[in-house]
Amino acid sequence: MALQASEKGLNWFQDIRFGMFIHWGLYSIIGKQEWVMHTDRIPVPEYEKLVPQFNPVRFNAEEWVSIAADAGQKYIVPTSRHHDGFSMYDTALSDYKVTNTPFKRDPMRELADAIAKRSDIKLGFYSSLLDWHHPAYRFRSESGLAWSDYIAFLHGQVRELCTNFGDIACIWFDGDWPHHALDENNAYFEAGGSFEYDKLYDMIHSLQPDAVVLNNRHENPLPGEDVQGFEQDLPGVNTAGFNTTTISKLPLEVCMTINDHWGFSANDSNTKSTPHLVHLLVRSASVGGNYLLNVGPTALGEIVPAHAARLRGVGQWLKSNGESVYGTRAGAIPPTAVTVSTRKGDTHYLHVLDYTSDCVTVTGVPDTVTKARLLNGGAAIELERRDDKTVLCIPEAQRDTIDTVVVLT
Ligand code: GLC
Repeated sequence: MALQASEKGLNWFQDIRFGMFIHWGLYSIIGKQEWVMHTDRIPVPEYEKLVPQFNPVRFNAEEWVSIAADAGQKYIVPTSRHHDGFSMYDTALSDYKVTNTPFKRDPMRELADAIAKRSDIKLGFYSSLLDWHHPAYRFRSESGLAWSDYIAFLHGQVRELCTNFGDIACIWFDGDWPHHALDENNAYFEAGGSFEYDKLYDMIHSLQPDAVVLNNRHENPLPGEDVQGFEQDLPGVNTAGFNTTTISKLPLEVCMTINDHWGFSANDSNTKSTPHLVHLLVRSASVGGNYLLNVGPTALGEIVPAHAARLRGVGQWLKSNGESVYGTRAGAIPPTAVTVSTRKGDTHYLHVLDYTSDCVTVTGVPDTVTKARLLNGGAAIELERRDDKTVLCIPEAQRDTIDTVVVLT
C-alpha cells in the first residue's frame, strides 16, 4: 500500500485554493521561456555560459512573498530545478547550481525564511524528473554512468527538498513524458528507466506527512499521488491537447500561466486581466480545484510589475469575497454560462460572472436554501422559486464588476 498525504495535509491543501507558481532559472536570462535550451538546440557547454551571467541583484524574497500574500495566495511553488538541470538551491548533489553563480545566494532558502515568518503561506517545490544536463540522464554512454546514478541524484534532491526547508506544502513533479512520447531528438528526451515512483512518493510521505504529491503526467493518478493536476485547462476541458478529461476523486489543481509562457518571455505581454484571473480561480474552486497561477520573474529577480499588479487585483477581490473561495468544496449547484458555485456544508456561494439579463436563473439549488444575500455587504437578495428554477435579481448598483457572490442559505 502506497503512503498518502495525511488527512490534515489534504484538507489544508483543499482549503487554501490559490497558489503562486514560479518558473525561474538560467533560462530567464535569455527571456525565451524555460524550454529554450531545447527549442534553440543549445548544447550543454553553450548553455553553461549562462552560469557566470546569473546575478539577480533585484531578487528580494520578502517582496515575492508579499506579492503572493497581497494576491491572497497561500502556497508558493518555485522551480527547484527545471528541465535544464540547473538547481536553484544549494544542493549538495551537484555543482551546477545557483550558489556557484556570481549571485552566490540560495533563493530557495531565502524564500523559505521569508515564508517561515508568516503563518498563512507555505512553500512547495517544483522538481523536474528529466534533466537535459545531468550526465547520468542524458550522457550515459559518454560518462559511463548508469540510470541508477540518475535515480540516486533525483531521489537525493527530493530528500533535500523534504528535509532542508521546514514543513513544505507539496512536491510538484514534471517531465515524466519521455516514457511515452519520444521526440525525434532522443538525446533531450530519453529516460533510461523507471523513476521509481513508489519509493520516491513513500519517501516524501514519510519525511513530510502533510505534504501532497502531484505529478504533472496528464494521466490518471498513480498510488501515492495525492492531487490530480490539470495544465492550462480547467478539469474536464482539453484545449491544450494533452489533458485527460477523466476527473478522479482526488483533490484537483489547475496550473496556468499568467500570460502565455511559464519562464520569463520578453515578448509576451498577453497578461490575463484581473477579472479573467478571478473567474479562473472561482471556476477551479467550483469543481473542487486549487488554482496555481504562474509568474516568470526576470533574470534580475523581479516579478514583472504588470503581473504583480494583476495579482494584487485578485487579492483585492478576495478581500471582500474570500469566504466564497477559501475552505470551500466543489459546488452543488450546476454551472450555467454565467454562474458557478462553491459550498461550505449547507452554505452555497453562487458566483455571478456575467449578466445576460437583470436576473440570473439557476437550476439545482438545494431545497434547504430559503435565503439569499450578497457576500460583500450582506444586502438581502430576493430569491424566487419557479418550479425547478431559482431566480435572483441583483440590482445593478450592487453588482461586482468581476464576480458578484450571492450566499444561499
Ligand atoms: C509544461 C512545460 C514545463 C512547465 C510545466 C508547468 O510541462 O513543458 O516547462 O514547467 O508545464 O506546468
